[in-house]
Amino acid sequence: MAEKTKIKSAKGKLGVLLPGMGAVATTFVAGVMAVRKGLAQPFGSYTQMGRIRLGKRTEKRYPKIKEFVPLTDLNDMVFGGWDVYKDNMYKASVKAGVLDKRLLDQVKDELKAVKPMKAVFDKKYVKRLDGTHIKKGKTKMDLAKALMADMKAFKKTNGCDRLVMVWCGSTEIYMEEAACHKNLKALEKGLKNNDPAIPPSMIYAYAAIKMGVPYANGAPNLSADIPALVELAKSKKVPIGGKDFKTGQTLMKTILTPGFKARSLGVDGWFSTNILGNRDGAVLDDPDNFKTKEVSKLGVIEHILQPELNPELYGNIYHKVRINYYPPRGDNKEGWDNIDISGWLGYPMQIKVDFLCRDSILAAPIVLDLCLLLDYASRKEMGGIQEYLGFFFKSPQTKQGLPPQHDLFKQLMKINNTLRHMQGEDLITHLGLDYYY
Ligand SMILES: NC(=O)c1ccc[n+]([C@@H]2O[C@H](COP(=O)([O-])OP(=O)(O)OC[C@H]3O[C@@H](n4cnc5c(N)ncnc54)[C@H](O)[C@@H]3O)[C@@H](O)[C@H]2O)c1
Repeated sequence: MAEKTKIKSAKGKLGVLLPGMGAVATTFVAGVMAVRKGLAQPFGSYTQMGRIRLGKRTEKRYPKIKEFVPLTDLNDMVFGGWDVYKDNMYKASVKAGVLDKRLLDQVKDELKAVKPMKAVFDKKYVKRLDGTHIKKGKTKMDLAKALMADMKAFKKTNGCDRLVMVWCGSTEIYMEEAACHKNLKALEKGLKNNDPAIPPSMIYAYAAIKMGVPYANGAPNLSADIPALVELAKSKKVPIGGKDFKTGQTLMKTILTPGFKARSLGVDGWFSTNILGNRDGAVLDDPDNFKTKEVSKLGVIEHILQPELNPELYGNIYHKVRINYYPPRGDNKEGWDNIDISGWLGYPMQIKVDFLCRDSILAAPIVLDLCLLLDYASRKEMGGIQEYLGFFFKSPQTKQGLPPQHDLFKQLMKINNTLRHMQGEDLITHLGLDYYY
């Protein structure tokens, strides 16, 4: 059995800071409040509902993750954040239209108390938003310092022991790694010189990590996925993870694709289209913002199928992803997939998936799990990229040069084994050696 390493206590309050208080953030916060009051169950949450096998099958030990790992109690979570609009969380959640108003009204007072701080925002990076609840500052470094001051004040006012931050803000325009992202010195210089390669999400990430606050990125923006911030996270022992919550269509893809590969079925084409009508849909209607999402969504099939190793089966896949803004649907997205596969002797078949999903209902439990697991990793002093958290992301952040793992079942094995290791339990390889004894 591995040795269980020491960990700081989960007691005391955990402050959860959310840049972006839209559909996902409000569904998460209202949901936690409803669960705390016994009004609903945290379905979809790995830490709250998921179980893990420990030891041999004969031992019959299957605790819930929250029973196995010392995580913060939901009653000890305190919420705050920033938005470019002034609405408190009650108003914002009613506007988002995800949760039933009857449920929201039962947690109305707590939700109303969560008011957004002024955001660090620049329309250049999210063109379809026009909020005015925005900080002013001469340089991007000044803005980062203002965010750090917000964090300090929030921690003090709410009597928090620890903080975590999860980016639930809009998807920013597509950007690639630039010179100022290469190392911390260059990034800090860029912050002082207002380098255009530093979007708001990167300013939040810098401020969080600098303050020792774990950071996860729920959108596909680069944000903390640059060498400079990985360097800072490692040196300050701050856990980070990203990018882009794995929900809806990509979740389906990473469930189905491993099955095709396991049975050596060919895949010739995969056409995916989405209609959604929430604010996220409006933002993604802009081609520059859509490009960021497209890149995040496109990689998964190819990474799982490895066409370079299996050219006969997967050498010619045509993969297309479309997102269309369609207001009548609000947050209730519809994702259609047409999959052209081939079986024995190359005979073609088709699969159609029509997922009438609720985007934020799928994303909210991920935010909860990330908050709790990042805080756990932080108490274990595990700094840098937490690759096992890739389970929750469309575009998992990895160490430079390493390919991401997208297969949901391999990701599950990885997160389970990482937690077993961190808690001093034997790893489970599913290798039954009974035949030999
Ligand atoms: N819902 C899902 O299933 C899902 C899945 C994967 C990723 N995401 C991503 O999560 C993010 C949130 O999604 P959503 O549906 O809640 O969107 P949303 O539009 O409802 O909420 C985003 C909020 O962020 C705010 N915002 C934008 N820039 C900001 C900034 N710089 N500082 C502070 N606030 C800022 C906006 O005003 C808005 O209120 C999006 O980037 C989306 O692409 C969502």
